[in-house]
Amino acid sequence: MKVLIIGGGGREHALAWKLRREEAGLEIVAAPGNPGIAQLGRCVPVAASDVEALVALAESERPDWTLVGPEAPLAAGIVDRFRERGLPIFGPTAAAAEIETSKAFAKQLMVDAGVPTARAELHTDAAAAKEAVRRFGAPVVVKASGLAAGKGVIVAQTVEDAERAVDFMLVEGGFGVAGAEVLVEEFMVGEEASCFFLTDGTSWIALPPAQDHKRLEDHDRGPNTGGMGAYAPVSLLETDDGRALLAGVERSVVEPTLRAMRERGRPFTGLLYAGLMLTPDGPQVVEFNCRFGDPETQALLPFLDGVPVGAWMRAIAVDGELPAAAAPGGSSAAVTTVVAAAGYPDRPRTGDPIALPEQVPEGVYLFHAGTALDPDGRLVTAGGRVLAVTAVADTFERARALSRTTAAQVQFAGRQYRTDIGWREAERRREPS
Ligand code: AMP
Ligand code: GLY
Repeated sequence: MKVLIIGGGGREHALAWKLRREEAGLEIVAAPGNPGIAQLGRCVPVAASDVEALVALAESERPDWTLVGPEAPLAAGIVDRFRERGLPIFGPTAAAAEIETSKAFAKQLMVDAGVPTARAELHTDAAAAKEAVRRFGAPVVVKASGLAAGKGVIVAQTVEDAERAVDFMLVEGGFGVAGAEVLVEEFMVGEEASCFFLTDGTSWIALPPAQDHKRLEDHDRGPNTGGMGAYAPVSLLETDDGRALLAGVERSVVEPTLRAMRERGRPFTGLLYAGLMLTPDGPQVVEFNCRFGDPETQALLPFLDGVPVGAWMRAIAVDGELPAAAAPGGSSAAVTTVVAAAGYPDRPRTGDPIALPEQVPEGVYLFHAGTALDPDGRLVTAGGRVLAVTAVADTFERARALSRTTAAQVQFAGRQYRTDIGWREAERRREPS
């Protein structure tokens, strides 16, 4: 069996690791991959966004199936192009990927299908958007409709900040076409949870939820990032009430969303990621993504060791159908700490030599994200999030401590990492129940 993996981040390294773990003899080709993935397979220097070159690569490599990590190739229609050529691939078509790539499309879909989500208005005119901001009142959220590299959402504490965000997007064109349409959205309060559903368009399997940490610094301070850490399980959602809540989400979010996508002639196949806000009035959808989360995947897949996630994805890609299976549970706890480059998130510095820990403890995995080999063969930083350090242990506290202490041993100039990943979960577990 041979698989082609598209992408070269920590998420793709974790996916490669999981596929190999499920099938020891699997041949892995990655485009472009990274030095971590290179220990599991062959990396080919083709960019994840170069759809035509990826089609040519697949036609010469002839993998049994292809797995797409990031959203950019999905948005660019890689699945459509592969299917035209009869090449099995896991992921949604460009039209279905709009559930992530157009927040305007996703919001309208949710409203039409009755999926619980924050009230919002779509605007292209700055004066009308500001009028909406004043009507909604602060705090209020202003979102660029298109893909803006994770920076397109402004949670404004004041009306003035929200108006500035509107001007940045609609008047100054700060996010280009991605910000030519904005959503003005009601502010929601609650804990967030990342929920993953593997789907063939009609049926689905719910993977256990994870939580990530978006802010750069300890105590949830500093700027928003792509994610500085993640963990699973989320005990809040493992109680009887939590399980009932998740079953409710399948009925109120997943089923109607997949149905609405089919009715629009855009059946969604692949991994549907629902970012939820657990508000006092029940779970509401913050956003959908059309692919695995990063860094949630780096925690979730080691947590799901022994669960045939890869076989399910291959069945969706090759047979177009998900086999009947019960929703899996993880057996222990997994905590991921991201080690990021100097200057992340605004201007990550590259080229800093990295020293990895000499010995990695049992149950700890180092997933490469932004790393490269320099001309002398030294491992150097090559992106914002450099490594994801995942620890799996029999208790949450042990996983948390192992992830933190191993992350501390990943050394390079200007490295940044949080020492408090999982603090919410740790506090919850300390509370008498
Ligand atoms: P998104 O890119 O849509 O995931 O948004 C990034 C982050 O902004 C989310 O993870 C939330 O923390 C926050 N956010 C987005 N929309 C809202 C909202 N309506 N109310 C409160 N926070 C929000
Ligand atoms: N960690 C959030 C995301 O992948 O979008």
